[in-house]
Amino acid sequence: MNAIVETTGEDIVPGQKGRALDIHDHANVMNEETIGSPFVDNAKMSARNVNVFYDEKQAITDVSLDIGKNEVLAMIGPSGCGKSTFLRSLNRMNDIIPICRVRGDITLDGEDIYASDQDTVMLRARVGMVFQKPNPFPKSIYENVAYGPRIHGLAHNKAEMDEIVENSLRRASLFEEVKDQLDKPGTGLFGGQQQRLCIARAIAVSPEVILMDEP
Ligand SMILES: Nc1ncnc2c1ncn2[C@@H]1O[C@H](COP(=O)(O)OP(=O)(O)O)[C@@H](O)[C@H]1O
Ligand SMILES: [Mg+2]
Repeated sequence: MNAIVETTGEDIVPGQKGRALDIHDHANVMNEETIGSPFVDNAKMSARNVNVFYDEKQAITDVSLDIGKNEVLAMIGPSGCGKSTFLRSLNRMNDIIPICRVRGDITLDGEDIYASDQDTVMLRARVGMVFQKPNPFPKSIYENVAYGPRIHGLAHNKAEMDEIVENSLRRASLFEEVKDQLDKPGTGLFGGQQQRLCIARAIAVSPEVILMDEP
């Protein structure tokens, strides 16, 4: 049996002793075993011995698991245990954090996503991401969704683009609320609507994998 171990960054309350409830009294988190296997036969993505560092500080230790085709996989854990860091390592969003180093192997359809010839723009179209905090572009609702399909050449004319935008907004359960204001700024929507706009933007390029960070 393989155990998935994620390290927590710090003790819950460093140095504080003698409280009635101390998590270390009744749980040794490091010895928890994974129930079932973290590996599947039809892996879409595979992580093996993934270690991630921010400068000297290690945020993830030896994570190995598969994400199966058509599988919905949820990860839970306390704040700071490395969930966002792990998600960002799956589409190389950690690349844009200069102090961050990712070690280990991560594959998509068996291909190393950290290979030197990997095109990260293409990778992020295939492995899309919705962030915890909604971050619409400072553009119209329509343009937020059309942006990805446009840079990837997915629509040949205005009618095709209109269809992609409408379908993506429908699949994110937002279309009915915004259909009369598609030319209004995406940043003017309410928080929950902004997040659904970001989901529509992510799915507009038909990604093969969607990473959702507590959206
Ligand atoms: N950009 C960053 N620079 C430095 N340290 C970071 C950065 N992002 C996350 N960390 C650290 O990495 C650890 C894991 O953080 P994170 O992946 O955000 O956890 P979670 O999403 O589970 O709350 C934490 O200790 C956090 O402080
Ligand atoms: Mg997080």
